[in-house]
Amino acid sequence: MDIKAVILAAGKGTRMKSNTPKVLHKIFEKPLLGYVLDNVKNITNEAFVIVGHHAEEVTEYVNKNYKCAKTVLQSPQLGTGHAVSMVCPNLENFDGQVIILCGDTPLITEKTLKEFIDYHNSCNSDLTVMSTIFENPTNYGRIIREADNSLKCIVEEKDATPQQKAVKEVNAGIYCLNWGKIKCAFSQLTSNNAQGEYYLTDIISWGKTNNLNVNAYILENSDEIYGINSRQNLAAATKIMNDRKLADLMDNGVTIVDPSSTWISEDTEIGADTIIYPSTYIEGKNKIGNNCKIGPCAHLRGDVEIADNCKIGNFVEVKKAKFDSNTNAGHLSYIGDAELGSHVNIGAGTITANYDPISKTKSKTVLKDNVKIGSNTVLVAPVEIGEGTNIGAGSVITKNIGEWALGLTRAPLRVIEKWVKH
Ligand code: UD1
Ligand code: CA
Repeated sequence: MDIKAVILAAGKGTRMKSNTPKVLHKIFEKPLLGYVLDNVKNITNEAFVIVGHHAEEVTEYVNKNYKCAKTVLQSPQLGTGHAVSMVCPNLENFDGQVIILCGDTPLITEKTLKEFIDYHNSCNSDLTVMSTIFENPTNYGRIIREADNSLKCIVEEKDATPQQKAVKEVNAGIYCLNWGKIKCAFSQLTSNNAQGEYYLTDIISWGKTNNLNVNAYILENSDEIYGINSRQNLAAATKIMNDRKLADLMDNGVTIVDPSSTWISEDTEIGADTIIYPSTYIEGKNKIGNNCKIGPCAHLRGDVEIADNCKIGNFVEVKKAKFDSNTNAGHLSYIGDAELGSHVNIGAGTITANYDPISKTKSKTVLKDNVKIGSNTVLVAPVEIGEGTNIGAGSVITKNIGEWALGLTRAPLRVIEKWVKH
């Protein structure tokens, strides 16, 4: 089946109180919109992202990171129904299914979206909305049902009567529609409501009036449709995502000594029997092998690849670096833009000086197998140290060194006898 996605991301995100567009706010260094796009990229063949507020920034992000996605401008932003109507020209002759999602709902999973589409198909549905039950449904649209329990309509918080506000079944903001049958709804929506907006939610009552088969798929794990509208929501979503990730890692043989102080991004893979010690923060995309020890207090900042049996110890920061097996950086180091062979040892306090603030460029440090770096060394990149070479403690290395050598820069020790007594 030909499936396309429409992702709503044009809104202002007023409640974030930010200069950054809401959908570009990040969880573990990945924008909220990135999570949504990653979840649809395997189940749809094309995604349209509706942009408006800060359109250039959002468009730049999408174009740079997602080949399968196109942005469509909505200006001015007259509501979620108006937002979807912007893609109508792109889908004029399209006769497959369209799933609609919000760019501010990053916790949804690919698995749930697949089940949702399967449900839509198994009901022979023309239009399916995802719903869930919230103990505190405030701010969400409420699902209003007929006496026979079939769907009637969705009512927004601001339009709801006290009786409707008491309903705990809410609209998740995710829809699956047979485009050919629903597309004409978008030219018929009106803005007669408390917010004066064209509500996407009105397609439910439109579908009922037009005798279409309209259904709701009730999602059990309501966490997945948690929407980000405020900084509080952003923090809560980060926690939910982290708890989910840690549980998954532990299920797969990773020891997390203290889940309450450990943060690991969804895009980090970790092999079995690796131990993550407390206060470790791992963001971005990373791959860690088996039998490694990470932390306590380690910070992995993305694009980090660590092979088996490695150790990243206390107060070590690693960014865009590759460690081959059995390599250790035990204490107080910064390793960035680096490639380390196997059996390399990084002494305490070693720094890869990878950034040139004048040219604003970064350069690479390469340490071949069996290199041993003495404590408090600065490796001024670009620099390469050959196999087996040792670097004496306290050195500043500015040139490449070959194999099996000793490199050291050190001011001679001066001793002034009895200096303290004088
Ligand atoms: C919306 C739903 C509500 C549902 C909730 C789930 C409507 C009218 N309401 O409410 O029933 O429970 O999501 O999270 O649909 N957007 C645009 N263009 C616009 C307006 C909004 O692209 O003109 C985008 C926003 O950027 C956002 C998404 O649509 O990503 C949802 O908009 P938002 O204002 O957050 O709607 P809610 O009030 O959360
Ligand atoms: Ca929202």
